[in-house]
Amino acid sequence: MVEMWNIAIQTHADEEAEVCAVPQFKINTEEKWGIGWKYSLKCLNCGYISPVVKLYREITTGKRGRKAAAVNINLQAGLLDMPLGNSRTRLLLADLDITPPAESGMSKLSSYVSSKTTDLNNESMRTKVEEVKNVNRRRGASNPNVINVALDGRYNCLTIGHSKKPGQGASQSIGIAWVLIKFATTDGDSTSATGIEEAMRTLHPMWKVERLADPAHLSASQFRQCFKAYFSDGMFRGKTKVEKTNQKKTLSQDIKSRYSGPKVIQYLAARLCGDYSSIHSCLREINLRDEDFQPHSMLDFGSGLGTSVWASTKLWKRITEFYCVDYSSDMNTVARLLLQDGKEDGYMKVPVVFRNKLPADYKFDLVISTYTLMEIKSEQERAKLIESLWNRTENYLVIVEKGSYSGFALIHETRQHLLKLSKQSKKGHIFSPCPHHEPCPKLKEKNSPCFFEARYTDLDQMEPEGLETEYFSYIIFRVGPKPNTESFPRIVDEPFKMKSCTHCHLCCSNGKLHHAVISSQEHEKDLYRCSRILLWGDMLPVRDKQLSDNNDVISEKDDMLPVRGKQISDNNDVISEKDDMLPEKSNCGQ
Ligand SMILES: C[S@@+](CC[C@H](N)C(=O)[O-])C[C@H]1O[C@@H](n2cnc3c(N)ncnc32)[C@H](O)[C@@H]1O
Ligand SMILES: [Zn+2]
Ligand SMILES: [Zn+2]
Repeated sequence: MVEMWNIAIQTHADEEAEVCAVPQFKINTEEKWGIGWKYSLKCLNCGYISPVVKLYREITTGKRGRKAAAVNINLQAGLLDMPLGNSRTRLLLADLDITPPAESGMSKLSSYVSSKTTDLNNESMRTKVEEVKNVNRRRGASNPNVINVALDGRYNCLTIGHSKKPGQGASQSIGIAWVLIKFATTDGDSTSATGIEEAMRTLHPMWKVERLADPAHLSASQFRQCFKAYFSDGMFRGKTKVEKTNQKKTLSQDIKSRYSGPKVIQYLAARLCGDYSSIHSCLREINLRDEDFQPHSMLDFGSGLGTSVWASTKLWKRITEFYCVDYSSDMNTVARLLLQDGKEDGYMKVPVVFRNKLPADYKFDLVISTYTLMEIKSEQERAKLIESLWNRTENYLVIVEKGSYSGFALIHETRQHLLKLSKQSKKGHIFSPCPHHEPCPKLKEKNSPCFFEARYTDLDQMEPEGLETEYFSYIIFRVGPKPNTESFPRIVDEPFKMKSCTHCHLCCSNGKLHHAVISSQEHEKDLYRCSRILLWGDMLPVRDKQLSDNNDVISEKDDMLPVRGKQISDNNDVISEKDDMLPEKSNCGQ
């Protein structure tokens, strides 16, 4: 509009300035083009007629004849997303005192716009399917053309409340769209999953739909299983049978509510920051030492609130696929909401898939499981889990547990198991923390756990002085044979910084502990400087040989430094829960 006035005034001034100083315009011609208009103006004083100016942007459609106006195309594109047809749109425009375009023109344009939109959708669907197939190929799927579709079949009506029946099967609303559905979350009592399976079988005679349990039914079944389970006599302290049964009931209730409802929020508050700091420092170890590693996919087993997703996106920008497995659907819900700014219909910041079980046979660049092994009951089950995680690992497998006796026992067990596995078909080696494959010298020589610390600020305490400490044990295995080069020793306790020397407890590539005293007089300046700034858990950039040549190794027996953690007496080589005296944060879910 402003442009039209500028053109009229400018051309009038160019051509009529001498005869007419101050123009007075009125509309000369007006012509409608859909809901767009074009005008020419006439000066009442001198009769000057301006060029015709279009008040709309034109679009080249490749068709012959008059060019289409962008507003008309935009109107049709907008209407595609609305339950409003052309006739009602014309009424609406008339009500607003906007002259409606001709019905025939609108309908011609709407078929043009919808056919173009269909083409665009088909094209984008094709590229999406190709992307998914590429992901399948990267994960090593045997048939990349199979795309697992998941469906939530619960009808969660907000207005019809019933405490006993929070969800109702919605399978009746599922049409068959020539897509095979692999996973369905349904109400446990309903026959939805079987219904979906039957429907799918009309497309594929052998199809099986896997049912994912919804939180209400999953926790009820956890209660039943615990209540039915057989416990040894000493487990419950009640005198009478009734007392014992009541105690068993309390335990079952507790297990039922472990990872559902309010417990999830408790867990969030108690563990999130500490977990994040330890996971981040383990992943940073990979990030710092292997600059070429750019993971595209990550699998997190026992993902909880998705802490690993947050930590890894901080370090790597190209992860396009996160697969989080947690059998607590409530955990998954809160984890998803955290990624959606707390909004149920929000946009997920990173592409995460939440599942209750491990995926079939896919592989991931990075596989991680943190603070979850302790929840797996038996050594056999843990070994089976570790093996299946290792089989799904393309590059790195990261396991983190608490920095306690029991946490380290789990890491040590995993280490032994993975060392055994990596001698078999799939080669692998310890990337971190041990610079060797020998038995852990901290355990062997000192009978103490090997663990590290991460410092962090708690959520409710934003003061930098108030740093909290998280102790953790971890192991990172990398796929591929062990490199021939000697690894640098790792600092396995708080370095003790004196006035002119640093005492470092080192775990060396020969599988032995060294207590090195690095001083400004006897060592290279760079090494000394390093020793002043490096922290517990870092690698000291020095070769074993340099250390012993300099004769700066004090035998561990003369060790005068305070050693963290409680020592276990020589004859007690079993790491038991009772000795778990190291500083710990609250137990998750307790
Ligand atoms: C202690 S939390 C750790 C959460 C998260 N990895 C972190 O570090 O913050 C353990 C999680 O593992 C899940 N979990 C335990 N056993 C599982 C299993 N067998 N399958 C799937 N998830 C499991 C629990 O539901 C829980 O969310
Ligand atoms: Zn004039
Ligand atoms: Zn060690």
